[in-house]
Amino acid sequence: MRDLLPALRMTCSHDQRLDPRTLFDFPVQNVWLEIGFGGAEHLLEQAGNHPEIGFIGCEPFINGVAKLLAGIEARGLRNIRIHDADARDVLESLAGGSVGRAFLLFPDPWHKKRHHKRRFISPENLDELARVLKPGSLLRIASDIPDYIRWTLTRIHAHTGFEWQARGPEDWRGRPADWPATRYEAKAIRQGRTPVYLSFLRR
Ligand SMILES: C[S@@+](CC[C@H](N)C(=O)[O-])C[C@H]1O[C@@H](n2cnc3c(N)ncnc32)[C@H](O)[C@@H]1O
Repeated sequence: MRDLLPALRMTCSHDQRLDPRTLFDFPVQNVWLEIGFGGAEHLLEQAGNHPEIGFIGCEPFINGVAKLLAGIEARGLRNIRIHDADARDVLESLAGGSVGRAFLLFPDPWHKKRHHKRRFISPENLDELARVLKPGSLLRIASDIPDYIRWTLTRIHAHTGFEWQARGPEDWRGRPADWPATRYEAKAIRQGRTPVYLSFLRR
Protein backbone atom coordinates (compact mmCIF):
# COMPACT_ATOMS: atom_id res chain seq x y z
CA MET A 1 0.00 0.00 0.00
CA ARG A 2 2.80 2.40 0.87
CA ASP A 3 5.08 1.80 -2.11
CA LEU A 4 3.05 0.38 -4.98
CA LEU A 5 -0.25 2.24 -4.61
CA PRO A 6 1.21 5.76 -5.10
CA ALA A 7 2.95 4.52 -8.27
CA LEU A 8 -0.24 3.03 -9.72
CA ARG A 9 -2.82 5.48 -8.43
CA MET A 10 -4.71 7.43 -11.05
CA THR A 11 -5.18 11.14 -10.48
CA CYS A 12 -8.65 12.33 -11.43
CA SER A 13 -9.07 15.87 -12.64
CA HIS A 14 -12.29 17.50 -13.69
CA ASP A 15 -10.61 20.42 -15.45
CA GLN A 16 -9.03 18.56 -18.29
CA ARG A 17 -10.45 15.26 -19.50
CA LEU A 18 -7.91 12.52 -19.83
CA ASP A 19 -7.00 10.09 -22.60
CA PRO A 20 -6.48 7.06 -20.31
CA ARG A 21 -3.90 5.47 -22.65
CA THR A 22 -1.47 8.11 -21.34
CA LEU A 23 -1.63 6.51 -17.86
CA PHE A 24 0.52 3.58 -19.00
CA ASP A 25 4.25 3.60 -19.60
CA PHE A 26 3.95 1.53 -22.81
CA PRO A 27 1.52 1.86 -25.74
CA VAL A 28 -1.77 0.09 -24.95
CA GLN A 29 -4.27 -0.86 -27.66
CA ASN A 30 -7.31 0.03 -25.61
CA VAL A 31 -8.39 0.79 -22.03
CA TRP A 32 -10.94 -1.25 -20.06
CA LEU A 33 -12.57 -0.10 -16.83
CA GLU A 34 -13.75 -2.16 -13.84
CA ILE A 35 -16.05 -0.48 -11.31
CA GLY A 36 -16.02 -1.97 -7.79
CA PHE A 37 -13.47 -4.75 -8.37
CA GLY A 38 -13.87 -6.14 -4.83
CA GLY A 39 -11.27 -8.88 -4.28
CA ALA A 40 -9.80 -8.18 -7.77
CA GLU A 41 -10.18 -11.75 -9.08
CA HIS A 42 -11.77 -10.61 -12.37
CA LEU A 43 -9.46 -7.61 -12.86
CA LEU A 44 -6.24 -9.59 -12.28
CA GLU A 45 -7.35 -12.39 -14.57
CA GLN A 46 -8.42 -10.04 -17.38
CA ALA A 47 -5.23 -7.99 -17.08
CA GLY A 48 -3.10 -11.16 -17.22
CA ASN A 49 -5.03 -12.46 -20.24
CA HIS A 50 -4.80 -9.10 -22.08
CA PRO A 51 -1.34 -7.56 -21.63
CA GLU A 52 -2.03 -5.33 -24.65
CA ILE A 53 -4.94 -3.61 -22.85
CA GLY A 54 -4.61 -0.99 -20.11
CA PHE A 55 -6.96 -1.48 -17.15
CA ILE A 56 -8.38 1.00 -14.67
CA GLY A 57 -9.79 -0.56 -11.51
CA CYS A 58 -11.95 1.46 -9.10
CA GLU A 59 -12.58 0.29 -5.56
CA PRO A 60 -12.84 2.30 -2.33
CA PHE A 61 -12.65 -0.84 -0.13
CA ILE A 62 -9.07 -0.88 1.21
CA ASN A 63 -8.83 -4.68 1.59
CA GLY A 64 -9.75 -5.06 -2.07
CA VAL A 65 -7.06 -2.57 -3.09
CA ALA A 66 -4.51 -4.50 -1.00
CA LYS A 67 -5.51 -7.76 -2.74
CA LEU A 68 -5.16 -6.12 -6.13
CA LEU A 69 -1.69 -4.76 -5.27
CA ALA A 70 -0.54 -8.17 -4.02
CA GLY A 71 -1.83 -9.77 -7.24
CA ILE A 72 -0.16 -7.16 -9.44
CA GLU A 73 3.16 -7.77 -7.69
CA ALA A 74 2.89 -11.57 -7.71
CA ARG A 75 1.98 -11.67 -11.41
CA GLY A 76 4.31 -8.85 -12.51
CA LEU A 77 1.49 -6.94 -14.24
CA ARG A 78 2.25 -3.54 -15.80
CA ASN A 79 -1.16 -2.77 -17.26
CA ILE A 80 -3.31 -1.79 -14.25
CA ARG A 81 -3.97 1.64 -12.77
CA ILE A 82 -6.04 2.15 -9.63
CA HIS A 83 -8.56 4.63 -8.34
CA ASP A 84 -9.06 3.72 -4.68
CA ALA A 85 -12.27 5.71 -4.35
CA ASP A 86 -15.57 6.35 -6.11
CA ALA A 87 -15.68 5.26 -9.77
CA ARG A 88 -17.75 8.33 -10.61
CA ASP A 89 -14.59 10.46 -10.22
CA VAL A 90 -12.95 8.38 -12.95
CA LEU A 91 -15.95 8.55 -15.27
CA GLU A 92 -16.06 12.34 -14.93
CA SER A 93 -12.34 12.69 -15.62
CA LEU A 94 -12.15 10.56 -18.79
CA ALA A 95 -12.40 11.83 -22.35
CA GLY A 96 -15.43 10.82 -24.40
CA GLY A 97 -15.11 7.54 -26.32
CA SER A 98 -11.87 6.64 -24.52
CA VAL A 99 -12.87 3.29 -22.95
CA GLY A 100 -13.16 0.03 -24.87
CA ARG A 101 -15.04 -2.05 -22.28
CA ALA A 102 -16.56 -1.54 -18.82
CA PHE A 103 -17.39 -4.06 -16.08
CA LEU A 104 -19.76 -3.62 -13.15
CA LEU A 105 -19.91 -7.00 -11.42
CA PHE A 106 -22.31 -7.57 -8.55
CA PRO A 107 -22.82 -3.92 -7.61
CA ASP A 108 -24.05 -3.25 -4.08
CA PRO A 109 -27.80 -3.96 -4.28
CA TRP A 110 -29.07 -1.39 -1.75
CA HIS A 111 -32.16 -3.44 -0.97
CA LYS A 112 -34.19 -0.86 0.95
CA LYS A 113 -36.37 1.37 -1.18
CA ARG A 114 -35.09 4.53 0.50
CA HIS A 115 -31.53 3.50 -0.49
CA HIS A 116 -32.31 2.77 -4.16
CA LYS A 117 -30.91 6.17 -5.13
CA ARG A 118 -27.47 4.88 -4.08
CA ARG A 119 -27.53 2.12 -6.73
CA PHE A 120 -24.71 2.56 -9.23
CA ILE A 121 -27.06 2.06 -12.16
CA SER A 122 -28.76 5.43 -12.46
CA PRO A 123 -29.62 7.64 -15.44
CA GLU A 124 -26.68 9.94 -14.53
CA ASN A 125 -24.11 7.14 -14.33
CA LEU A 126 -25.47 5.53 -17.51
CA ASP A 127 -25.06 8.88 -19.30
CA GLU A 128 -21.45 9.02 -18.11
CA LEU A 129 -20.79 5.39 -19.10
CA ALA A 130 -22.31 6.06 -22.53
CA ARG A 131 -20.11 9.13 -22.90
CA VAL A 132 -16.80 7.42 -22.07
CA LEU A 133 -17.45 4.14 -23.90
CA LYS A 134 -16.52 3.89 -27.57
CA PRO A 135 -19.34 3.11 -30.02
CA GLY A 136 -19.51 -0.67 -30.46
CA SER A 137 -17.88 -1.38 -27.08
CA LEU A 138 -19.23 -3.65 -24.35
CA LEU A 139 -20.70 -2.89 -20.94
CA ARG A 140 -20.91 -6.02 -18.78
CA ILE A 141 -23.01 -6.13 -15.63
CA ALA A 142 -23.70 -9.08 -13.32
CA SER A 143 -26.08 -9.38 -10.40
CA ASP A 144 -27.67 -12.10 -8.29
CA ILE A 145 -30.48 -9.85 -7.06
CA PRO A 146 -33.62 -10.13 -9.24
CA ASP A 147 -34.79 -6.64 -8.30
CA TYR A 148 -31.43 -5.14 -9.31
CA ILE A 149 -31.56 -6.99 -12.63
CA ARG A 150 -35.05 -5.63 -13.35
CA TRP A 151 -33.89 -2.18 -12.22
CA THR A 152 -30.88 -2.35 -14.57
CA LEU A 153 -32.79 -3.65 -17.60
CA THR A 154 -35.52 -1.03 -17.16
CA ARG A 155 -33.01 1.82 -16.97
CA ILE A 156 -30.83 0.60 -19.80
CA HIS A 157 -33.86 -0.04 -21.99
CA ALA A 158 -34.91 3.57 -21.40
CA HIS A 159 -31.41 4.78 -22.38
CA THR A 160 -30.76 5.29 -26.07
CA GLY A 161 -27.01 4.63 -25.74
CA PHE A 162 -27.10 0.88 -25.08
CA GLU A 163 -28.52 -2.26 -26.62
CA TRP A 164 -28.89 -5.54 -24.68
CA GLN A 165 -27.14 -8.25 -26.64
CA ALA A 166 -29.10 -11.27 -25.36
CA ARG A 167 -30.97 -13.28 -27.98
CA GLY A 168 -32.12 -16.05 -25.62
CA PRO A 169 -31.93 -17.22 -21.97
CA GLU A 170 -28.56 -18.93 -22.50
CA ASP A 171 -27.06 -15.49 -23.10
CA TRP A 172 -27.84 -14.24 -19.60
CA ARG A 173 -27.82 -17.51 -17.64
CA GLY A 174 -24.28 -18.53 -18.50
CA ARG A 175 -21.08 -16.62 -17.80
CA PRO A 176 -19.11 -16.19 -21.05
CA ALA A 177 -15.78 -18.04 -21.16
CA ASP A 178 -13.82 -14.75 -21.25
CA TRP A 179 -15.54 -13.47 -18.10
CA PRO A 180 -13.58 -14.65 -15.02
CA ALA A 181 -15.54 -15.51 -11.87
CA THR A 182 -15.43 -13.35 -8.74
CA ARG A 183 -15.56 -14.10 -5.06
CA TYR A 184 -18.95 -12.47 -4.76
CA GLU A 185 -20.35 -14.66 -7.54
CA ALA A 186 -19.10 -17.80 -5.76
CA LYS A 187 -20.73 -16.63 -2.52
CA ALA A 188 -24.05 -15.97 -4.28
CA ILE A 189 -24.07 -19.47 -5.81
CA ARG A 190 -23.10 -21.06 -2.47
CA GLN A 191 -26.01 -19.28 -0.83
CA GLY A 192 -28.47 -20.49 -3.49
CA ARG A 193 -28.83 -17.32 -5.56
CA THR A 194 -28.59 -17.38 -9.36
CA PRO A 195 -26.28 -14.88 -11.03
CA VAL A 196 -27.38 -13.17 -14.22
CA TYR A 197 -24.83 -11.94 -16.75
CA LEU A 198 -25.80 -8.95 -18.86
CA SER A 199 -23.85 -7.69 -21.88
CA PHE A 200 -24.78 -4.41 -23.52
CA LEU A 201 -23.43 -2.87 -26.70
CA ARG A 202 -22.69 0.85 -26.74
CA ARG A 203 -24.62 2.02 -29.80
C1 LIG B 1 -20.91 -6.61 -3.81
S1 LIG B 1 -19.28 -6.07 -4.05
C2 LIG B 1 -18.77 -6.95 -5.52
C3 LIG B 1 -17.28 -6.96 -5.69
C4 LIG B 1 -16.75 -7.64 -6.97
N1 LIG B 1 -17.16 -6.95 -8.17
C5 LIG B 1 -17.17 -9.10 -7.03
O1 LIG B 1 -17.93 -9.44 -7.95
O2 LIG B 1 -16.71 -9.89 -6.17
C6 LIG B 1 -19.51 -4.41 -4.67
C7 LIG B 1 -18.23 -3.60 -4.65
O3 LIG B 1 -18.43 -2.34 -5.27
C8 LIG B 1 -17.69 -1.35 -4.56
N2 LIG B 1 -18.31 -0.06 -4.84
C9 LIG B 1 -19.50 0.39 -4.39
N3 LIG B 1 -19.75 1.63 -4.85
C10 LIG B 1 -18.67 1.97 -5.63
C11 LIG B 1 -18.33 3.13 -6.37
N4 LIG B 1 -19.14 4.20 -6.41
N5 LIG B 1 -17.16 3.14 -7.04
C12 LIG B 1 -16.34 2.06 -7.00
N6 LIG B 1 -16.61 0.94 -6.31
C13 LIG B 1 -17.76 0.89 -5.63
C14 LIG B 1 -17.79 -1.80 -3.11
O4 LIG B 1 -16.75 -1.28 -2.30
C15 LIG B 1 -17.72 -3.32 -3.23
O5 LIG B 1 -16.40 -3.81 -3.12
